[in-house]
Amino acid sequence: MAETALLLVVKRIGIALAGDTLKIAKDLLAKRSEMVAALPSDMKLIKNELELIHAFIKGIDRKGVKNEIIEAYTAQVRTLAYEMEDVVDQFIYVVGEHNPKGIFGYFKKIGKKPCSLFSLDEIATDVKRINKELKDLSERMDRWTKPMDDGAEIPAAGYEIEQVYPPGPVHDYLIKDEELVGTDENKKTLIDLLCSEDQPLRIIALWGMGGVGKSTIVNSVYRTEAFRFDCCVWISVSESYKLEDIWKTMLKKLVGKDESELNPEAIDSAELRVELIKFLDKKRYLIILDDVWTSDALFRSREVLVDNGLGSRVIITTRMDEVASIADDGYKIKIEPLHHNDAWLLFCRKAFPRIENHICPPDLHKCCIDILEKINGLPLALVAIGSLLSLRPRTEREWRNFYNQLTSELHRNENLNHVVKVLNLSYKHLPGYLKNCFLYAAIFPEDFLLYRKRMIKLWIAEGFVEQIGTCSLEDIAEGYLVGLVRRSMFEVVELNRSGRIRSFRMHDLVRELAIFQSRKERFSTVCYGRSGLTVGVDARRLSVILCSNGIPSHIDLSRLRTFMAFGDNMGSSLWHPVISKSKFLSVLDLSGLPINVVPDSIGDLFNLKLLCLDDTSVRELPKSIKKLRDLQTLSLKHSRLANFPEGVSKLVKLRHINASHSQSVDIRLCNNWEGVEPFKGIWYLTELQSLSSINSSELFVAKLGHLTQLRYLSICDVRSGHCAKLCNSLSQMHELSKLFIQACSEDEVLQLDSLSFPNPLQKVYLGGCLSEKTLESPFFLKHGHALLHIGLKSSQLSKNQLSQLSELAKLTVLDLDGAYTEEDLHFHTGWFRNLKIMVLIDLTRVNQICIDKGALVSLEHFCISNPEELREIPVGINFLTSLKEAHFLYMHPDLPSNALKEKLDHIPDVYVVKKAGIQSAIDLDTHCK
Ligand SMILES: *[C@@H]1O[C@H](CO)[C@@H](O)[C@H](O)[C@H]1NC(C)=O
Ligand SMILES: *[C@@H]1O[C@H](CO)[C@@H](O)[C@H](O)[C@H]1NC(C)=O
Ligand SMILES: *[C@@H]1O[C@H](CO)[C@@H](O)[C@H](O)[C@H]1NC(C)=O
Ligand SMILES: *[C@@H]1O[C@H](CO)[C@@H](O)[C@H](O)[C@H]1NC(C)=O
Repeated sequence: MAETALLLVVKRIGIALAGDTLKIAKDLLAKRSEMVAALPSDMKLIKNELELIHAFIKGIDRKGVKNEIIEAYTAQVRTLAYEMEDVVDQFIYVVGEHNPKGIFGYFKKIGKKPCSLFSLDEIATDVKRINKELKDLSERMDRWTKPMDDGAEIPAAGYEIEQVYPPGPVHDYLIKDEELVGTDENKKTLIDLLCSEDQPLRIIALWGMGGVGKSTIVNSVYRTEAFRFDCCVWISVSESYKLEDIWKTMLKKLVGKDESELNPEAIDSAELRVELIKFLDKKRYLIILDDVWTSDALFRSREVLVDNGLGSRVIITTRMDEVASIADDGYKIKIEPLHHNDAWLLFCRKAFPRIENHICPPDLHKCCIDILEKINGLPLALVAIGSLLSLRPRTEREWRNFYNQLTSELHRNENLNHVVKVLNLSYKHLPGYLKNCFLYAAIFPEDFLLYRKRMIKLWIAEGFVEQIGTCSLEDIAEGYLVGLVRRSMFEVVELNRSGRIRSFRMHDLVRELAIFQSRKERFSTVCYGRSGLTVGVDARRLSVILCSNGIPSHIDLSRLRTFMAFGDNMGSSLWHPVISKSKFLSVLDLSGLPINVVPDSIGDLFNLKLLCLDDTSVRELPKSIKKLRDLQTLSLKHSRLANFPEGVSKLVKLRHINASHSQSVDIRLCNNWEGVEPFKGIWYLTELQSLSSINSSELFVAKLGHLTQLRYLSICDVRSGHCAKLCNSLSQMHELSKLFIQACSEDEVLQLDSLSFPNPLQKVYLGGCLSEKTLESPFFLKHGHALLHIGLKSSQLSKNQLSQLSELAKLTVLDLDGAYTEEDLHFHTGWFRNLKIMVLIDLTRVNQICIDKGALVSLEHFCISNPEELREIPVGINFLTSLKEAHFLYMHPDLPSNALKEKLDHIPDVYVVKKAGIQSAIDLDTHCK
């Protein structure tokens, strides 16, 4: 419950009072009334007060004291904090408007300032009022808590007193050994590591989200394998550990069996250590540390874990990747939720204990499937919910009811409380700055695939990400994401080709927890379905999912910071009110809605930082867009925008512009983007980090060099004549890592002989005929060895050029789309040593592909599509022993089918599709086996 809202406000006030803003403000305020002049100091007071309150609430939270007075107090503070946030946003806006160095000054329009949305007098009045109310609140609080202090003192211990579990293996009483499902593989791995001949001490770690069954697995193995050790001890570290307690427990349990005279309670920690070391020194021991939260706990307990070379083992279970990393190489086991079939089995055993073979009655089948989908393979919840349902009448109605109320059941039902507690604990342990980021993910629909890039921009727009040193906000935010994944709050769905998170998901139950928490903190509200039913109507963030009836009228829109909508059936009556009423919006995401025209009033959203109109039919933006001075991200992917309106170049805080749309519906494996026209003054947007896709022009390529922060650039419609200036501009980009250049037509020659960059790039895509010396340009000579990904289209590569590419040492991905026009394609020994993915599209003339032994030695994915003249499978494909997957698409009808099996048998996944008639993967599989 530590108040995330307070932190945000404190930070926001900090920004308002930071050097630059304050300096401008001082001049501005000095000329006004006394009350206005006192604004900075009044705001400072509020900031200090909120900081104190935050520390106070956090302290109470730690101690696990549940107290209704404090709950009520927190709620009132939160309300004031939110009001303060609104006021600070107004203040920052007004000051920004008067910034002489700001854009208005830049364009020399002084004296023609637009009339302000807010008045300083009103702001000052509000600040005074909030200040007073905070003071009153604290006084009242004192009055109510004083009497309590004398008697039932708030415990002062510095660690948790709330004992979540009885000590001992946690899920022991829940899942019996014979009921364990889907754990065989993990159990086997664990037993192997436990019993291996390896003599040195080994630390084994099992990690995964709360309730995934880590302790259950360890417990089951513990019971069968403990006899191999001279002594064993199981310690629940949980969150309430004190190192001394761990040692005491350890010694007590060990000595108890050894019948010595020692009394662990009576000795101090130094002695404890000595005794423990003495005890463990001569024994083959097994120690289990269950549910470890910090690696600190572990490092320090290592002091007593002597490595006596007798094959001793320590097993830890944890939700944190970081903690698990303490395990020795190859001794770390990630525990994933159960697969569907196993989950079903386990659930049915619990839900239908008295039915023979635990078969689900047909009328409950559908409902069970729905419930299981929610639980998503989390054993702890499967067992708890299954057991609970076993006690209910077995009628469809009863069960459906339960399903519909699953969320509130989770919190209300005593028997499910431990599920919630396990998940609650994870939330409680998040550092403050991660809590907001975590909760934010819950405003997306269930099972929604979340993308790193998108999430990061949202977090930044909301102000969740704090600048540290010279790192970019984007990099810091990525660190947050990794932090949440490593704490098992998010599950990674897809990694990029070099191991970076690309997309992720929230487990359904975790999402329910987050929604519950969000509602409580008024962080966000999700409005779902036709009924639009929702609780917590005055939240700061609103997402509407499939609400064809519009936003329920009782929801207060005036204070929203984020608005998102999901579903393509929601007309303008849904989002128009938001634009006109939600003045403080920072994030407006209307992607996928049927939108043609954006209203002019959007320019009044003075606080807007992210505007997303992806996948809409928007053709143009209103002129008022130029008023959105704080805008950081402007996204119009797959819209129909052709031109930006005049004045976008005034939005100097823009960091990301994406207006890419693809040329045709035909989804190609290579990029095929169409750009928008470059607008005048785009080169003033010097904070830009990504820019895609813009059509080239003489002026644009010449000025592009001003955008030195660019990391991602996509430029289309490039003519030969632009290339010299383009190369010159690119040579000034220190941060660039991904570059897409597309010529205006297939035959246009990209004259990139002088291409150069100060630093290496990761990915380069070039669409158009390559000039002869491109691959010998300064860039390729100097940084080619660092390139990870190269895509070429219509390049008319020669054999010699292909050979040059084959030497790029780190190249992992190669896409060639109509890029190679010779008749034979020969991969020689030693070529493309590190290539993992190769995609060859439209090899128009190639009639033979040869792969020598020792070529493409790392290749894992191979795709070839539409090789018009090729009538056989590449010769030598049998040498590619690391292949995992191969696709042969739109192959020549004459390709002989009968020899396929033999030639491709060594590849685990093969898809073959011939041009005439389709032979699917399944066909081939049965054909092969
Ligand atoms: C979980 O956390 C929520 C919100 O802090 C709280 O209201 C609820 O009582 C907790 N549930 C349990 C079972 O501890
Ligand atoms: C994937 O992740 C790495 C490491 O974090 C990152 O540097 C790189 O940009 C990404 N690679 C690709 C091919 O996108
Ligand atoms: C811009 O949008 C396109 C199309 O979805 C996408 O492929 C590209 O990665 C986006 N650019 C950035 C910098 O995210
Ligand atoms: C951008 O260039 C492409 C050709 O590469 C052209 O088809 C398109 O119409 C141009 N876009 C605009 C907005 O002019």
